[in-house]
Amino acid sequence: MVLPDDPKYALKKVEEIREMVDNDLGFQQAPLMCYSRTKTLLFISNDKKVIGCLIAEHIQWGYRVIEEKVPEISSENEKVIFERQKAWCCSTSPEPAICGISRIWVFSMMRRKKIASRMIECLRSNFIYGSYLSKEEIAFSDPTPDGKLFATQYCGTGQFLVYNFLNGQNCP
Ligand code: COA
Repeated sequence: MVLPDDPKYALKKVEEIREMVDNDLGFQQAPLMCYSRTKTLLFISNDKKVIGCLIAEHIQWGYRVIEEKVPEISSENEKVIFERQKAWCCSTSPEPAICGISRIWVFSMMRRKKIASRMIECLRSNFIYGSYLSKEEIAFSDPTPDGKLFATQYCGTGQFLVYNFLNGQNCP
């Protein structure tokens, strides 16, 4: 975990990784809103490569995704295609939240090995000293189709919390 007060070389590395992740996500170089309040988790492979990155920030509010019913007869494959194609909508009523996942990324060759799940578990126990965050206290920033499929599985519901809406939310 890299924190805002860590040595410059560590912050520089995090910045390089964030730029790479943002390119992969197709984000325009979007600066983090509150850099001084972010916590970055890096998942390092045995051969010392960064294969996962999670950037979390303090937030106050999240908005619940409104789940659209998947047609009943769909196979698992069809469900994934449906999820990838549709836009997501969310409620306009804010709900209290504590931790925003600003970025979550796993190297393409290493996906579906529970690396993202392990990073969130680690985040939940380390984001606030001495407490373990519940899934209800976490929100995802502008989820991609992959992010939405992941969050739905991880949270156990398609009605997880989202926030930011492409940098629309300011620091608390
Ligand atoms: N399609 C369908 N289900 C998916 C999925 C996908 N692309 N990615 C994750 N899931 C679901 C699965 O049910 C999976 O369990 P299973 O493999 O046993 O079926 C479960 O979530 C846990 O996934 P996990 O292995 O922990 O996730 P991951 O390490 O592959 O990382 C992402 C998930 C989203 C971080 C990764 O796909 C990624 O980096 N994507 C590109 C960046 C991105 O879009 N980030 C999201 C920003 S919101």
